[in-house]
Amino acid sequence: MTRARIISTGRYVPERVVTNEEMTKLVPTSDEWIRERTGIEQRHFVDKEIGVSDLAYEAAKIALDRAGLKSTDLDFIIFATLSPDFMFPGSGCLLQERLGVSGIGALDIRNQCTGFVYGLSVADAFIRCGTYKRILLAGAEVHSTGLEFNERGRHIAVLFGDGAGAVVLEACDNGRGVLSTHLHADGRYARELWTENPASRHIPRFYDGMLTDGSCYPQMNGREVFKHAVTKFPQVIKEALEANQLSLDDVALVIPHQANLRITEAVTQRLGLPPEKVFSNIQRYGNTTAASIPIALDEVLEQGRIKDNDLLVLASFGSGFTWGSAAIRW
Ligand code: ACO
Repeated sequence: MTRARIISTGRYVPERVVTNEEMTKLVPTSDEWIRERTGIEQRHFVDKEIGVSDLAYEAAKIALDRAGLKSTDLDFIIFATLSPDFMFPGSGCLLQERLGVSGIGALDIRNQCTGFVYGLSVADAFIRCGTYKRILLAGAEVHSTGLEFNERGRHIAVLFGDGAGAVVLEACDNGRGVLSTHLHADGRYARELWTENPASRHIPRFYDGMLTDGSCYPQMNGREVFKHAVTKFPQVIKEALEANQLSLDDVALVIPHQANLRITEAVTQRLGLPPEKVFSNIQRYGNTTAASIPIALDEVLEQGRIKDNDLLVLASFGSGFTWGSAAIRW
């Protein structure tokens, strides 16, 4: 059976590191508050005008180099982000231009924290049915230019970081690769974690008060997000295992979307997994939404935490609400 296999990875984060100490100069907060509630110690912020397609380009170059490929070897590009360079066109087109591969398809995925898992599912489907043989999947975010750095926005501003991750997927027939993906959404909770404005459904779409009423910044009902996340992560991880007649004992490593260390710890506990089987790097990057899983995967490989034929489970939960998982035979 043909499946998509991740043959290489890359990550790129902007140079500027913003520690919790530095964050206290931007919003009224403390290192202690941030660490206790989220586990985050630092994040990276862009320090010049740079878009998600530029960050993704750097990550993609690394992934292509490691695979020994040129961008012209790609058949298709998938780009997951909630902070696209522009309202339109999609950042996939901009990344395609930077990679110098005009003509191949470029798809943007708008599924927030679950964007990478949705993108992986689409890539796997294209490869399984033979439409494409080699796909670049990138997840990238620039959050820092759109956060509200004041008391009203502080519970959100401390959470997010900028960065990018990319993977190259290739058709594979030897039993390795993506075993299955599982995608979910529940739009009843769309307004629990969202950015309302500018909104095409409002007349006028733009108005002067957007900055002062805060509606052009992300809004989050943190407790509601926490409650759903700690339920959906375990559910969707179990779903991926059951679909493949596998159990938690078979898993070498779970890479959850890096939402919040407290969420990851609660999920680990609920599943009864030993902490070393669940990867965390949110301490150093904050929450990079669609970029968090590919950045984490790249670090996992760098640290030699998975070997060929290991079972890996990716899982995510986020705005939408959306959630999803992937079982991968590495
Ligand atoms: N620094 C210091 N104090 C703060 C900050 C801050 N950055 N933000 C809020 N506070 C204060 C509040 O003003 C409030 O003060 P008060 O008690 O005097 O009124 C107090 O801290 C508690 O505020 P809450 O918002 O109720 O804080 P809570 O305990 O719910 O923690 C948090 C907030 C960390 C966001 C929590 O709700 C959470 O972890 N939610 C999950 C959300 C999440 O992880 N989202 C990630 C993005 S979505 C995703 O990736 C799945």
